[in-house]
Amino acid sequence: MAIVLRPVTDQDSERLLAWRNDPVTRANSRRGHILTWEELIAVPAGTRRETFVALSDGDPVGSVRFDYAGAECELSWTVAPEKRGRGFGRAMVAAAMAVARADKLIAAIKPGNPASRRIAESLGFIESEHRDGLEIWRRDRL
Ligand SMILES: CC(C)(COP(=O)(O)OP(=O)(O)OC[C@H]1O[C@@H](n2cnc3c(N)ncnc32)[C@H](O)[C@@H]1OP(=O)(O)O)[C@@H](O)C(=O)NCCC(=O)NCCS
Repeated sequence: MAIVLRPVTDQDSERLLAWRNDPVTRANSRRGHILTWEELIAVPAGTRRETFVALSDGDPVGSVRFDYAGAECELSWTVAPEKRGRGFGRAMVAAAMAVARADKLIAAIKPGNPASRRIAESLGFIESEHRDGLEIWRRDRL
C-alpha cells in the first residue's frame, strides 16, 4: 500500500481537528476532551513537532505526528474514522518510521487499543514500560 506523507498545512486544520475529536480517537488519547485548534497545535516545552497528512492515491487517510525530544522521537497516529480497518494505520506508521530522524522511536498507547498495539508490535516495537497510564513501546530506528 503506497502512502505519501506531506507536511500539514493551514488548509488541513478542519480535517485534523475532526479526526482528533472523533470519539474513538478521544478515547484513545491522553486528553479525552474535545480539543480546540490551539490545544491541538500547542507543542510541549522541549519538543520539536512535525505533523504530516498521509495520502493514499492522493486521498487524505490519516495523520502522523513526530515529537522530537533529545535522541527520541515519539510517533503518534490517527486514521480518518471512515478509513479505519483497511490497513492504512499500519502503512502510515511504517512510512513514518522510514523518515523519522531520530535513533530511538517511541509510541505511547492507551491500554484497550488493540489496533495500535498490533501496529506497534508488527513494526518491531517492544512494549517497555507503563507511564502515566500509557504503554510505552520502543524501537530503534530502521
Ligand atoms: C488505531 C488506528 C490508528 C488503527 O488504524 P487502522 O487503519 O484502523 O488499522 P489497520 O487496518 O492498519 O490495522 C492494524 C492492525 O490492527 C488490527 N486491528 C484493527 N482493528 C482492530 C481491532 N478493533 N481489534 C484488534 N485488532 C485490530 C488489524 O487486523 C491489523 O493487524 P494485522 O496487521 O495483524 O492484520 C485507528 O483505528 C485510529 O485512528 N483510531 C483512533 C485514534 C487512535 O487510536 N490513535 C492511536 C493512538 S496510539
